[in-house]
Amino acid sequence: MEIIRSVQSLRKKTKLLIKQHKQIGFVPTMGFLHEGHLSLMKEARKANDILIVSIFVNPLQFGENEDFEQYPRDEEQDEKLAKEIGADILFIPAVKEMYPKKMQISMHVTDRTEMLCGRSRPGHFDGVITVLTKLFNMINPDRVYFGMKDAQQVAVVDLLIQNLNFPVQLVGLPTVREENGLAKSSRNVNLSRDEKEEAIWIYKALKKGQQFVIDGEKNPAMIKKEVMDTIKHNTSGEIDYVELLSYPGLKPVMEVKGQVILAAAVHFEKARLIDNLLFDESGRTIHVFKSEE
Ligand code: PAF
Repeated sequence: MEIIRSVQSLRKKTKLLIKQHKQIGFVPTMGFLHEGHLSLMKEARKANDILIVSIFVNPLQFGENEDFEQYPRDEEQDEKLAKEIGADILFIPAVKEMYPKKMQISMHVTDRTEMLCGRSRPGHFDGVITVLTKLFNMINPDRVYFGMKDAQQVAVVDLLIQNLNFPVQLVGLPTVREENGLAKSSRNVNLSRDEKEEAIWIYKALKKGQQFVIDGEKNPAMIKKEVMDTIKHNTSGEIDYVELLSYPGLKPVMEVKGQVILAAAVHFEKARLIDNLLFDESGRTIHVFKSEE
């Protein structure tokens, strides 16, 4: 595995790979790799000739009061894990390398961001699409991989790829879960022992909602109420949102039709957890989201 820190060396390398007609799979990350990232890397490894992983904590996607400085970092461990999976290139640029000066062009997403987590993080997705545009231009990947735990991010990246005609296929892979169903997240370490038990109910509540749909319920209000009641009765957490929306459009729906997302965010004492399920109108789970090739 080659570790590259400069944009120039990365461009040189990827140009050569493209000349050799290699298919490039790309997994963008902010490091502190966990099983969620590793599942993306394994899939990308299988489906492409070359696997490129980036580690960059992108200041542009953090709000003023957010935890950019405190964001966990462990480069040594990340290098070890990426190597074990068989990554070919690990791109770890410094902030100055990615943003030598303040950006003189700004990008702004005008759809799919006013709801779910986007509502409480203004500007966040603008930062995400900016850094991804830069990375896509540096790497020219054939496929790019994201976890569906951040389903709104996947929906926004889908827009980015469509709007700017990036010749890359988007692959959204299933959320990696603990055996009891709790979605894996670096934030789970901030849960108390009791909260960790309670947090399982977020997934259980979403599953109950999905079961309603399987049983023939089409009314989003009824489904959301079931999810909310289940979370309220079984956890001490405070619900931020429970939403049922079209996917990837993220529009409110009058009835469950086509592909939908049932998503929840819950505040615990020291952690805000998110989870979601993607299914069709008969309640059948959609495991993988792919844009057209
Ligand atoms: O999901 C993340 O880790 C980040 O938002 C991403 C896609 C690497 C962009 O900085």
